[in-house]
Amino acid sequence: MAQIKKIALVTGGSRGLGKNMALSIAQKGIDVMLTYNSKKDEALAVVAQIEQTGQKAAALQLDAGNVKSFKSFFDQVTIVLKDTFNTDHFDFLINNAGVGVGGSFAETTEEDFDMLFNIHFKGVYFLTQKALPLINDGGRIINLSSGLARFSTPGYAAYASMKGGVEVLTRYMAKELGARGIAANVVAPGAIETDFGGGAVRDNEHINKYIADATALGRVGLPDDIGGVVAFLCTEDAKWINAQRIEVSGGMYI
Ligand SMILES: NC(=O)c1ccc[n+]([C@@H]2O[C@H](COP(=O)([O-])OP(=O)(O)OC[C@H]3O[C@@H](n4cnc5c(N)ncnc54)[C@H](OP(=O)(O)O)[C@@H]3O)[C@@H](O)[C@H]2O)c1
Repeated sequence: MAQIKKIALVTGGSRGLGKNMALSIAQKGIDVMLTYNSKKDEALAVVAQIEQTGQKAAALQLDAGNVKSFKSFFDQVTIVLKDTFNTDHFDFLINNAGVGVGGSFAETTEEDFDMLFNIHFKGVYFLTQKALPLINDGGRIINLSSGLARFSTPGYAAYASMKGGVEVLTRYMAKELGARGIAANVVAPGAIETDFGGGAVRDNEHINKYIADATALGRVGLPDDIGGVVAFLCTEDAKWINAQRIEVSGGMYI
């Protein structure tokens, strides 16, 4: 019997964790739509890499913090689904796009707060809401949180609060979308070497060592530590996992 093709939409798939997720998902035999904000060339390079594995892929522009643009974004998604994937629905939504902007609670500006809120919470809320008609029954939603929503590291009050909100929202998604067979889970990475937050975890030797020392497995995370977990959540083996927060941090601050 021919297997029914599944399709994932990964936001922020041009770099870092989202890129690794997109490639890992493709390795599971799933086709991938990925989004970028400004780095189109990087996104197209990921598409080419996925196509080399034999899966279909496409890249779309998305500003995850601009809810007003979501209608035209999903108009584009509908066209791409038809033209590239020969279908009108997809199966897995991975809300990964994000920026790392820190600042102490005392000094957080309203501008930074609003920007983080729009990208990391309001955007996730309404992008998922507007995706619902396009997601197949039995599909899955995976939202990215952070270890910072469990432990408190000075400088991340606003960012981590949005991630905490996403964790609550995910349980509500799971509860309300269960009737359609749609599962919703959170993946919460520890500190990972990407461009995130100016690449500090990767490029700042002091920060890198500090995090490695605070991690039971003795090093900081790499994108490859995360993508496979998200890809697993898109497989049949993960079908009964729902409403869970899965921290993937190598045991940070335990
Ligand atoms: N790295 C970590 O230590 C860490 C830890 C815990 C959680 N996380 C979470 O993991 C997710 C990915 O982080 P990362 O480390 O992979 O970051 P990254 O390497 O900086 O990549 C960010 C990705 O998000 C996209 N993006 C940024 N702003 C956007 C916007 N306004 N609208 C749409 N897309 C946007 C970027 O697109 P362009 O390439 O076009 O700019 C890029 O694809 C984020 O949700 C982050 O909060 C990261």
